[in-house]
Amino acid sequence: MTAAEPDWLDLRRPVDDAARQESLHLLDDAVARLSNGTEPNPKTLLAIDIGAGTGNSALWFDAALRARLPDWELNWILLDSDQASLDLAATALPHARTICAPISALPTLSTELLAASEFRESKLLLTCSALLDVLTEADLTAVVRSLDDHDGIGLFLLSIVDGWELDPDHPSDAVIDAAFTAHQHRDGRLGHHAPERLMDLARRHGLTAVEGPSPWRLAAPADRTFLNRFLSERLDAAVDEHPALSAVAQDWWTQRQEQLGSGLSVRVNHLDVLIDAVGRACGGETPTVRAITPPTGTKAT
Ligand SMILES: C[S@@+](CC[C@H](N)C(=O)[O-])C[C@H]1O[C@@H](n2cnc3c(N)ncnc32)[C@H](O)[C@@H]1O
Repeated sequence: MTAAEPDWLDLRRPVDDAARQESLHLLDDAVARLSNGTEPNPKTLLAIDIGAGTGNSALWFDAALRARLPDWELNWILLDSDQASLDLAATALPHARTICAPISALPTLSTELLAASEFRESKLLLTCSALLDVLTEADLTAVVRSLDDHDGIGLFLLSIVDGWELDPDHPSDAVIDAAFTAHQHRDGRLGHHAPERLMDLARRHGLTAVEGPSPWRLAAPADRTFLNRFLSERLDAAVDEHPALSAVAQDWWTQRQEQLGSGLSVRVNHLDVLIDAVGRACGGETPTVRAITPPTGTKAT
């Protein structure tokens, strides 16, 4: 697992926030599902932002949820395997608790947290943003198991799915995208397949899964700084995967840099996923199948 660079996370925050405007209907759906049926008393929510990084996604979820659940008590746990990121997150969200642990530890952690007297009556909400593509099958199993065990709701936003659309196009766009996609599957990562895989796993466990798009819509020169970083990092990953592409990449980059000044639009597709274990009894889907991932290297701060 590689931590994300904090300056990159800050650069993408306004772009992510803009894309998450399209996620609001799923957030509203999640809030309705949380409030449905027998209202919990007290109304307390244990929200765990997995892969929280420096806290930018949790800040967005926190503001959006507080506006929609004004009479609920929101308790935040920020989970990440990178302690340096969590140190920054703790400053950004001083009311949150941070836990440095891998996502595979989530079933044990969520059970321990919900057994503590302060959270015993709480509903569980798992959130994440810009995370799923780097996860493995075992990680997704841990996520689904945590929701299944505790009748939780999960809201997983801004997961990269296949393809990018650049205007004007370039003859090498497809080959660079294919190399980037292959790079995303290194070391057992699910890459672009992660959101579909998460929904498959959830449905096999009898949970409800709902999806929606939340693309980045970028245009240079206005988004020049962001696009310069984004495109150069994608290109580096593609060449890292297929070093034979380096000459093609050089030509592509020269043209793209000119267009960052003169005009370039880029659409990057994302998929949002809502998983609901609360409403499963009405869904009548297939019975539960369990796969258990043991926790490793858990550290709470
Ligand atoms: C792209 S960053 C997103 C951070 C934050 N959600 C945001 O939107 O700003 C992904 C984060 O997930 C964390 N991460 C990746 N794989 C992980 C794993 N298996 N267990 C725990 N954290 C993980 C990384 O350390 C990184 O901080």
